[in-house]
Order: sequence, then structure tokens, then C-alpha cells
Amino acid sequence: MKFFIDTANLDQIREANDLGILDGVTTNPSLMAKEGIKGQESILKHYVDICNIVEGDVSAEVIATDFEGIVREGEALAALHPQIVVKVPMIKDGVKAIKYFSNKGIKTNCTLVFSPGQAILAAKAGATYVSPFLGRLDDISTDSLTLIHQIVNIYSIHGFETQVLAASIRHAMHIVACAEAGADVVTCPLEPILSLLKHPLTDIGLEKFLADAKKFM
Ligand code: E4P
Repeated sequence: MKFFIDTANLDQIREANDLGILDGVTTNPSLMAKEGIKGQESILKHYVDICNIVEGDVSAEVIATDFEGIVREGEALAALHPQIVVKVPMIKDGVKAIKYFSNKGIKTNCTLVFSPGQAILAAKAGATYVSPFLGRLDDISTDSLTLIHQIVNIYSIHGFETQVLAASIRHAMHIVACAEAGADVVTCPLEPILSLLKHPLTDIGLEKFLADAKKFM
């Protein structure tokens, strides 16, 4: 399973990358806005900066919602750097654009996916990744993990090559459950990744080992 970090914050991307376990980055317009990045030139430069930190795929989201606009924006984003994956929303013109990009060999991430039907359309259109959002489903009292199991199962039955990129991850147990469900990728903020490290017995055990080590040093 691949680990992507879901942020546009360069320091956090560097920190996750330094751990040696990072396979890529996902961003969205809200995450870019959070970093205070303004203006087309700065936005494009920021994507390139991210690509220069990590080795894997970097999702950059289009803002347009019409086919021509999505294609225009997506092609400009894809031309920025070979690691760029064009992130396209699950809407009618988005599906058309994913098919267009797929025919041209441009990688895509179909975002804002909340149902198995949407995931089937994304795969049929040839999306490289499909992004089902767990946390936002949990927020409306819907069992998000069932969705991951359904998509993984459907893709496996029909041999779809689209990778399941579990998104909107809020905590470490989401990551573990997605791994068990067979998600190909999880994307999450730095905190849930770091919280995978934590266990009180690890801390207690280490404290004891270090105390005992002093006895023979
Ligand atoms: C996915 O690619 C999205 O950027 C992200 O995971 C959304 O997460 P949120 O629901 O915490 O905003």
C-alpha cells in the first residue's frame, strides 16, 4: 500500500519524506488556500516545489468544471512536471475529461467520490486513481469503510486497473482499516501518519530498556 500525504505544506511534506515512507502527495484547492498561495504563477511554482521534494505522484486539482476548461487546465498542469497527476472532480464533464486524459496518457485522480457507482464510472473512463472520501462520509453517519471494500471488490472482479486512493483520512485506524480493505493508497495529513508510531507499551518498554542499559554502561 502506498502512502501519500494530503497537504500543500512544504515543511510537512519534507518531514514525511524524511521518514522514508512517502510515495506521493495529494493537494486540493482548500489545502492550497490554507498555505496562503495566491495567483496562478505562485500556484504552479508551488506544485513544482512539491515535485522537487518527493519522488512519487503529485495530484494537482483543476478548478474548471466544464470539459474544455478542465482539459485546458489539466494539460497545463501535466506539462509542469512528469510527476503531476491531474485531479478531476466526479462530475459529468470531469468523467469526459478523464477519458480524454487517459487516451493521451495523462495520469488522473478522480476526486470527490462517495459511491461505488461513481467509482465504476471513474474506472471506465480510465482514471489512474479514484479517491473515495472516508472522513466526510463518517461525518454524515455513513459507514465509509464499506465503500472502500465495495470499490476494491468491484475493481478486482472486473479487472479495473484504477488504483483505490483512500482519501479524507482522519486518524490512524482509518489507515489500518484501509490497508485491511485492500486500498492501493491512503492519503492523509501528517498527524495520522505519525500517530501510527505510537503505542504506550513501546514507550514503557523503551524506558525500561534504557534504564537497564545504564546498569552495564
Ligand atoms: C483528497 O485528495 C482530499 O484532498 C482530502 O483527502 C480531503 O480531506 P478532508 O475531507 O479532510 O478535507
